[in-house]
Amino acid sequence: MKFFLDTADPREIAKLAETGLVDGVTTNPSLAAKTGLDYVEALQEICKTVKGPVSAEVLATDTDGMIKEGKRFAKIAKNIAIKVPMTWDGMKACRVLSGENLMVNVTLCFSAVQALVAAKAGATFISPFIGRLDDAGQDGLTLIREIRAIYDNFDYQTQILAASIRSVPHVRDSAIAGADVATIPSDIFQKMISHPLTDKGLAAFIADAKKAGVRIRDE
Ligand code: E4P
Repeated sequence: MKFFLDTADPREIAKLAETGLVDGVTTNPSLAAKTGLDYVEALQEICKTVKGPVSAEVLATDTDGMIKEGKRFAKIAKNIAIKVPMTWDGMKACRVLSGENLMVNVTLCFSAVQALVAAKAGATFISPFIGRLDDAGQDGLTLIREIRAIYDNFDYQTQILAASIRSVPHVRDSAIAGADVATIPSDIFQKMISHPLTDKGLAAFIADAKKAGVRIRDE
């Protein structure tokens, strides 16, 4: 499974990219607003750090406007994925942009049929928002499973990008359900390797070694 970071903050991204485990980034207008930075400048900065797909979301709601903004984003770097909304205008823009070999991430997906349409429109990524579905009393993970089954039935190459992740178990369950990518907020990314028994076990190993004078000699 690929790990993307779900943030528009270049400094946060640079810090977590040091792990070598960040395969890409997703941003959206709300995340961009939180940084207080110019969106294009932030994207330029992010693309210097992360070589995998970096999603940049259009603000236009009409096809021509989306294509224009998408092409503007695509000039920032080769690894930009243009994020368009799950609307008919968005699908038309998706067809045009993907037809020009640009990566397209279709966002705000809340149903399996929407995901089917996005795949037919040539989307590189489909972003089902599992947390927002859970918030609305539905089951986000069921949506991932449904999309996986449909894409496998027809051999669509569109990658399922689990979005709106709210917890570490969401990452686990998306992986089990067959998502290709999880886009993970920074705080959840950091928590992914925490386990109290790991901390306890490590403390015991270090203490035992110290007590017995175990050393690792230099060569
Ligand atoms: C990522 O591509 C999405 O825009 C993001 O995951 C949405 O998350 P939210 O539901 O927490 O705003």
